[in-house]
Amino acid sequence: MCCSVRGAITIEENTKECIWENTELMLSEIINRNSLSAEDIISVVFTATRDIDAAYPAVVLRKMGITEASLICMQEMYVRGSLEMCIRVMVTINTDKAQKDMEHVYLKGAVVLRPDLVKKKTDAVAIDGPAGSGKSTVARLISKELGYIYVDTGAMYRTVGLYCLENGVDLSDDGAVVSALPHVDIRLSFEDGIQRIYMNGRDVTDDIRTQSAADAASKVAAVPEVRAELVRLQKKIAEKNNVVMDGRDIGTNVLPHARTKIYLDARVEERAKRRCNELSEKGISFDYNNIIKEIIERDDYDKKRKVNPLSVAKDAVVIDTTGLPVDQVKNKIMELVKSK
Ligand code: DC
Repeated sequence: MCCSVRGAITIEENTKECIWENTELMLSEIINRNSLSAEDIISVVFTATRDIDAAYPAVVLRKMGITEASLICMQEMYVRGSLEMCIRVMVTINTDKAQKDMEHVYLKGAVVLRPDLVKKKTDAVAIDGPAGSGKSTVARLISKELGYIYVDTGAMYRTVGLYCLENGVDLSDDGAVVSALPHVDIRLSFEDGIQRIYMNGRDVTDDIRTQSAADAASKVAAVPEVRAELVRLQKKIAEKNNVVMDGRDIGTNVLPHARTKIYLDARVEERAKRRCNELSEKGISFDYNNIIKEIIERDDYDKKRKVNPLSVAKDAVVIDTTGLPVDQVKNKIMELVKSK
């Protein structure tokens, strides 16, 4: 089925850079808010007010990797008293959704055109990094201080992994994992801002914390269909709530427009030490060398997978937490959040 999404944005100057930057912002918002992929887009029609003539907005689509859609740019008729320096767009897409569910995007000065459609903006702090970098501890503290909910996206991949383990789904067979996906109903609840996770109605918050669930999570997280479904859920939560969200691809893929993006890292020996402490607190025996090996293997898997691998977003602040007390890491991030 075909639907169309409308958008408009005003630009500050009639320069090539300004036209392209704002066009990209508007299109990214249309794509993100409607969970579109490049292949869904059939055609894009741009119009620009007569005071814009430094560049064609459509060029941006090719730069964004949207190469198949039909494009056209047109100059608008002049209407006395109407908004100046404005680029409008109509994107036609292939979708199963109904037209009434499309989210139109009006940004900057263009919000005056459709104030009825302007949503209350939610805030997001995106924290990415490898296993054991301290993400969840710090994210919990920050969410508490800001009064935001803490969304642990790794728990979602662990839940899909746990389902596969418990139901004999072959983790090396992507097709089998994809077939299992519709049978895993994931629900999150937030108690005092902290997440609990349910798999088909069962609270699995604690059951997913095993090494086997972590390894299974890393495997299912490399399957594009699993990622698409979980990313859709994650975006939906962030649309409705102020969030501190942690994972591997939050700043790069799930919330590319998050106001604050952090990438936490730490030396592998330190991350192994933290894992060992965690296990001995739970009374679980372990072998230090094995833990190091598991961490290196999982890092490797998460960094080298084809879809949305663990990587540093270009606008993220990198913090090395090796030897840093948790409070110092938290304070650094809080300073960043407040400075924005
Ligand atoms: O953070 P964690 O250990 O709970 O994550 C478990 C696995 O899930 C991790 O190895 C990679 C994957 N993951 C991911 O691919 N993307 C995310 N946003 C979060 C986790």
